[in-house]
Amino acid sequence: MPSLVRAELAYIPSFLEALREGFSRDNLRPTTADEIAQIEREPAWFVRQVNHPPRQVVLPDGTLGERVPATELWYMDGATFLGSVGIRHELNAILESWGGHIGYAVRPSAQRQGHASAMLAQALDHVRANLPLKRVMLTVNLDNEGSIRVIEKNGGVLRDEVDNPWVAGVRGRRYWIDL
Ligand SMILES: CC(C)(COP(=O)(O)OP(=O)(O)OC[C@H]1O[C@@H](n2cnc3c(N)ncnc32)[C@H](O)[C@@H]1OP(=O)(O)O)[C@@H](O)C(=O)NCCC(=O)NCCS
Repeated sequence: MPSLVRAELAYIPSFLEALREGFSRDNLRPTTADEIAQIEREPAWFVRQVNHPPRQVVLPDGTLGERVPATELWYMDGATFLGSVGIRHELNAILESWGGHIGYAVRPSAQRQGHASAMLAQALDHVRANLPLKRVMLTVNLDNEGSIRVIEKNGGVLRDEVDNPWVAGVRGRRYWIDL
């Protein structure tokens, strides 16, 4: 059974394959060819960045913001990379409006096999075991049927519907999951 683990150098070949088939750790932005080339050139630097993210984060509009403490975990089946989960330990005003505590993505070739559902369940176990949170917030665009299913299967309770502040004209939902 695949499991959520910290990124390691040994996983980079499979991670690169996932990027080349269109996977992105960032749901608001694709990974560019330049970024993929940089990871190939400097895999050890990249793994350090994943496990020790910089204090600042580039927001979807290109401006810089303060990053809240966060943990990124990779969903691995042996040495095969399947997807990733980002767990924010707390919300700031930006994440409260959109983004929430947990974001995830599954590589295109591994979608629709139940991985996101299982990965979110494991991420919730990780939060229960490691963070003092009583509930977590997740956000999803209204047209993302797969992710809505994943959240609701994991106990998501609809909080409200809002405009996605980063994508003009797109509506989304904010959900709470009680831990
Ligand atoms: C959304 C995403 C994470 C789903 O991953 P996945 O591993 O395919 O999800 P699962 O296999 O666990 O599917 C969960 C349910 O959603 C359904 N589903 C998955 N993708 C779907 C799609 N594109 N359209 C409709 N239903 C879909 C599955 O059939 C399944 O339904 P079931 O539980 O009733 O059988 C994946 O498509 C992805 O990474 N997309 C890009 C990034 C993204 O949108 N992340 C989430 C942001 S909120």
